[in-house]
Amino acid sequence: MRKTGIILGVLWGVFAGWSHAQRIHATKDLKYCHTQVERALAELGKDGAYDYRQMPRNILKTDTEAGRTGWNCRPAVPEEWCGGFWPGILWYDYEFSQDSAVRRQAEAYTETLAYLADRPAFDHDLGFLVFCSFGNGYRLTRNPRYKEVIVGTARQLAALYNPTVGTILSWPREVEKQGWPHNTIMDNMMNLEMLFWASRNGGGDALRQLAVRHAETTMKYHFRPDGSCYHVAVYDTTDGHFIKGVTHQGYADHSMWARGQSWAIYGYTVVYRETRDPRFLAFARKVTDIYLKRLQQTSDDWVPAWDFDAPGGAAAPKDASAACVTASALLELSTYVDSPSDARRYEQAACAMLASLHRNYQSGKRNVAFLLHSTGHHPAGSEIDASIIYADYYYIEALLRLQRKKAGKDVLEHF
Ligand code: GLY
Repeated sequence: MRKTGIILGVLWGVFAGWSHAQRIHATKDLKYCHTQVERALAELGKDGAYDYRQMPRNILKTDTEAGRTGWNCRPAVPEEWCGGFWPGILWYDYEFSQDSAVRRQAEAYTETLAYLADRPAFDHDLGFLVFCSFGNGYRLTRNPRYKEVIVGTARQLAALYNPTVGTILSWPREVEKQGWPHNTIMDNMMNLEMLFWASRNGGGDALRQLAVRHAETTMKYHFRPDGSCYHVAVYDTTDGHFIKGVTHQGYADHSMWARGQSWAIYGYTVVYRETRDPRFLAFARKVTDIYLKRLQQTSDDWVPAWDFDAPGGAAAPKDASAACVTASALLELSTYVDSPSDARRYEQAACAMLASLHRNYQSGKRNVAFLLHSTGHHPAGSEIDASIIYADYYYIEALLRLQRKKAGKDVLEHF
């Protein structure tokens, strides 16, 4: 009986993946993104000048329902972890459109964040902030100053590393507040990419070593036996032992917060890319397979609820951002697995996610974001069922990866 269920599940996955794969048209969706970027830029500059210190962050459900189409912005201060996504979107859109006006905007918004290289890290989010902006900027322009900013910022991030524990301290502010002597959140896996890159580009081998150790420690303690992750791992600072795994943005300590799991999928895929260590590939697959299994059990449209264990079942608010992060990562992961059928399974799952986002999640004329229906911080009642800037960032990234793949190129441009 169980075997029949598994076979049917696999057949469902293959069929659903294939049928959606036929319908996803990356170039058409990238053109849609370009139109939305142009609309967003027009809104941001509508008073005659741009304020490059204000970064798009969200468009709430209530805004969209009230006909307010433009981004709500937040100042580009160190506490605002999302500041790098809008410049990153502009770089990705420039990569697709080759529109020089978009490039000028990308340069101006990116420049705002340069100061982060010269001040002690507020928290671990420096990779999101600087690699999405300056990283893409350097990849597309080879501006040598961008490289300096990335390497300088990577050094600031490395200062949060605790060698006794073997991970980066993600949230210094929560040490006292929560009584978490050393805390590391799953999201922190996303910030290792900048350390690896900086290490290869003049930052020194120590940056790479600490990124590998962070990934190893996290692999050991931050996951349950089935491959699902806690949001936060709390460690002792005297001997480095793991104290507990808890949640912050998920439903419960025992639950699988959707975006946290997608950060794990993406993060371990990057660590495998950088190390070619088979342990990390096996682990990236493990954390992916539990996501896909639970997605199949709980979602009928390839986009998860904000937490896989959220009350309300199908009625729980969705998190399109988790689908975008996962789709982008799976397009890369599919290129690393040896088995052609597994490679196809991951690629088809990514295509099915992108097809679903195309059909049911694009904002269209309702607002200037690419997508609706992401959830930021449900327990805090914040950004529920909203357009959120990081969903758009990973959406356009995934579309570009798919377009490259369809053109027979490497999924991502190595630089
Ligand atoms: N890094 C915070 C989040 O994923 O919402």
